Amino acid sequence: MTDISNPIQFWLNSALQGHAGRADETLLTYLRHSGRVGTKEGCASGDCGACTVLVQTNDGGAYKPMNACILPVQQLHGQAVITVEGLPTNDELHPAQTALITTHGAQCGFCTPGFVMALAGWMDEQAVSAGSDRGGQPKLDSEQAEITRFKASREAISGNLCRCTGYRPILQAAKHLASNPPVALSETHQRLDRARFDSEPDHSAPYNAGFRAPHSLDDLKALLRQQPSAKLIAGGTDLMLEVTQKQVRFDQLISLARVPALQRLEIRDDRAVIGSAVTYQDLQAATPLRWPALHHFLSRLGSPQIRNRGTIGGNLGTASPIGDLLPILLAMDATIVMSHFEAADRNVPIAAFLQGYRKTQLQPGNFIKEVQVTGLQDFLRYYKISKRQEDDIAAVSVAVRLKLDAERITLARIALGGVAEQALRLPMLEQALQGQVITETLMTALHQQALAQLDPISDVRASRGYRREMAANLLVRALKEALGLPMPQIYGLDDA
Ligand SMILES: Cc1cc2nc3c(=O)[nH]c(=O)nc-3n(C[C@H](O)[C@H](O)[C@H](O)COP(=O)(O)OP(=O)(O)OC[C@H]3O[C@@H](n4cnc5c(N)ncnc54)[C@H](O)[C@@H]3O)c2cc1C
Ligand code: FES
Ligand code: FES
Repeated sequence: MTDISNPIQFWLNSALQGHAGRADETLLTYLRHSGRVGTKEGCASGDCGACTVLVQTNDGGAYKPMNACILPVQQLHGQAVITVEGLPTNDELHPAQTALITTHGAQCGFCTPGFVMALAGWMDEQAVSAGSDRGGQPKLDSEQAEITRFKASREAISGNLCRCTGYRPILQAAKHLASNPPVALSETHQRLDRARFDSEPDHSAPYNAGFRAPHSLDDLKALLRQQPSAKLIAGGTDLMLEVTQKQVRFDQLISLARVPALQRLEIRDDRAVIGSAVTYQDLQAATPLRWPALHHFLSRLGSPQIRNRGTIGGNLGTASPIGDLLPILLAMDATIVMSHFEAADRNVPIAAFLQGYRKTQLQPGNFIKEVQVTGLQDFLRYYKISKRQEDDIAAVSVAVRLKLDAERITLARIALGGVAEQALRLPMLEQALQGQVITETLMTALHQQALAQLDPISDVRASRGYRREMAANLLVRALKEALGLPMPQIYGLDDA
């Protein structure tokens, strides 16, 4: 059902737009149907980056790259979007455009707008975050800082694919931009007029009949009471694939993105409380020193475009057997706080929350409020084996958490992803480590027990034998790392 009487409003290339349409209409569809065809459609599934646009969300921070192909246009109410058509100012190209021209970084040009937008967003983020603390990044000398910036510029385009150039000239363009001062888009493009939207009398008013974006927990619960079977959407990076890949239609969507209580992010000492609508990007920015193992891993989850939208609640809601956070949260003994529109909150251990293939304890009327984790100072490793380093899903993944008293293991948690219909813990192997001192003998015994006990699935991503060998080897690697032994860098496991 479509109600065209109550359009959303957002800025597109600095001009205020009104739009009404289906609840599940993507920004890419809107752009291309309105003649803005600079933004390309390659895969329509968030994988190729050809549809990358920049979005300044309601927090008014940096413009962030996002995939327009899986972004519901209704979620942009009150936000600002820049597409490749709007990037140049006063007929002057943006430095990202100039760099790609100078290095011959385009051949057929299909992927080029996506690369340009990803790089422009990265530069804006650099400009906005310059001088801010961002969770206590370690101080670097100028040489380290340059290497870090270059690596970051490469990471910025890790969600973009090119089938012509072989990437070398594109990487040269990125390197050039990394060695020059960043350019802030907010100096040249529309800043959000937050007052205009913050003063709306009723934030839960429908933007149209099918898409609702409550601004408080009370509003969210009231909406769920009215429409308990409406589909919840956070970042949409899983849900919108149903629309673009399987042609499922969602007539009623309730967005969780504007509920402040679901954005709670507190990390103190050994404990974290993470609101379900916290994005990976925000989690990564908050954790370099407070939870380094998670911080380090997050650059392997999806791409910058995906991390700018995807949330921890969405990963749990989908409960895919290869969802990356699930083995980590299982190893951390995380607690899922589940809310309901007419019942008290329930604290559910993650092991009980996950109930099978994409099955959880969530029922209509439920939503995940937050995730509570303790033990952030424990030894934690998460290994993800995938065919591509960037923007790929796991064939098999292994999370190991240890509490150590010198070299004695006082608590062991082992969880695997990609081996069964759901992520799972391995209590028998955990038991084998409990109270043991880490020695070569223990490593050999663990390896043999893992090979004997593991019985993974076989599918297109990997065979049973491969998964079993990898998991057993990675368990040994974790013990070696716990002892501080130097490990060879492995493609797919470590930073390139
Ligand atoms: C290109 C691409 C790459 C990806 N790479 C990875 C990867 O490397 N690793 C990985 O783990 N995942 C990956 N994903 C999957 C996805 O990004 C993650 O699962 C993400 O965490 C989903 O979060 P979201 O906010 O976008 O969820 P949404 O799509 O908004 O929601 C997903 C599901 O969860 C439900 N839901 C969302 N929030 C809540 C809540 N608070 N309470 C109850 N239900 C809720 C929704 O109703 C829906 O059923 C990738 C996806 C794409 C498109
Ligand atoms: S079209 Fe490929 S990521 Fe959007
Ligand atoms: S230049 Fe042709 S796909 Fe990149």
